[in-house]
Amino acid sequence: MNQNKRILLVISGGIAAYKSLDLIRRMREKGFSVRAILTKGGAEFITPLSVAALTEDKVYTDLFSLTDESEMGHIRLSREADLVVVAPASADLIAKMANGMCNDLASTALLATDKPVMVVPAMNVRMWEHPATQANISTLKSRGVIQVGPTEGAMACGEFGLGRMSEPADIVTAIQDHFKNDTISKQVNGSRLSALVTSGPTHEPIDPVRYIANRSSGRQGHAIAAALAARGIETTLVSGPTDLPDPEGVATIHVETAQEMLDACKSHLNVDVAICAAAVADWRVDHAGNQKIKKQNGLLPELTLTENPDILATLSQAGKERPELVVGFAAETENVVENAVHKRARKSCDWILANDVSPETGTFGGAENLIHFIHDDGVEDWPKMTKQAVAERLADRIVDHFSGREKTSSKDAAE
Ligand code: CTP
Repeated sequence: MNQNKRILLVISGGIAAYKSLDLIRRMREKGFSVRAILTKGGAEFITPLSVAALTEDKVYTDLFSLTDESEMGHIRLSREADLVVVAPASADLIAKMANGMCNDLASTALLATDKPVMVVPAMNVRMWEHPATQANISTLKSRGVIQVGPTEGAMACGEFGLGRMSEPADIVTAIQDHFKNDTISKQVNGSRLSALVTSGPTHEPIDPVRYIANRSSGRQGHAIAAALAARGIETTLVSGPTDLPDPEGVATIHVETAQEMLDACKSHLNVDVAICAAAVADWRVDHAGNQKIKKQNGLLPELTLTENPDILATLSQAGKERPELVVGFAAETENVVENAVHKRARKSCDWILANDVSPETGTFGGAENLIHFIHDDGVEDWPKMTKQAVAERLADRIVDHFSGREKTSSKDAAE
């Protein structure tokens, strides 16, 4: 299966570069063909000769080498691969990638490529935790770049923490998963899987300057859309107002109100899976004013509320137009699982991801989620994880569902 797959490995500077040699060996053992770019920094740690010996190819190092340019060209080099793997990915190279900078062969090939890219970061823990690096990695992920690691442990610099490069065996597994997901998403029904995701809050106008809203950041829904797109799924995101950038590779439709969100979803119903992660306002103001409501000598305005349409229930009950798989969230502050089980039945969706949104959990607007995954076979308690990790796990479940290999709950229950 891996026989025809070509990997372009970019080895940047860092002590972890020595692991790249083992990585090349393992990739080749699995049948991948490997071509390597070694940066100047990388060549401080390992020699071009050892890389060339292991890849059984020449090693590409210099953007301005005329021989390379005439034989190959950096654009061809980046496009002839099926996957570009950057391992180790230094803080510097990640920053260049995030900002579209290119001044050597590695960064130029990464900017020129139209192929999926996997980054395997390796750096000191403080450098990894620095907001600049975190912002850069988020940017890359929002563009669909696949991130593997880093892992936690003792570092060459004597410190301890997150920043170690993942082990070569784990990187090879991630590469194989990538190709497996890619193939699956292309094979279902002979065409690409498609998904519709709702995200963010909705704003319900009171008058032209005021509205009803909630604290949803949209992070969870946006991360789901990005994770699906990264798996080769054709993804449409219908987003309420958020501060987030549109995820890379996702067709994003911006809406304000629940009614607009419903209309946008209805016109994109022809999908395999719908995921409703938006925190839709339950009520809107009946007859919102066209003019700003003015104060009237202490007299309080009377606002009458009316219920908004339920988008999740509408999609779940769309008859022939219903997507095969409909997934909802349940934001609860008490009796989380019990309420969510009822919600799933009431709205007729297939899966519900229930989470506790009590203020003390910091879930709403925060970075983490504690999910109870409710489906036909029962309830799985997922460990507390970042919204990004929830998105990856849900996306994997969706791919598994469509490839007829849905995981058993026992594996998850064991975690
Ligand atoms: N949802 C929706 N449209 C609405 C309200 C909710 O699509 N008008 C979806 C959400 O995106 C989520 C699920 O329904 O996937 C549950 O949302 P939640 O806020 O937990 O529940 P509500 O339906 O609002 O019920 P309640 O407020 O009574 O808990």
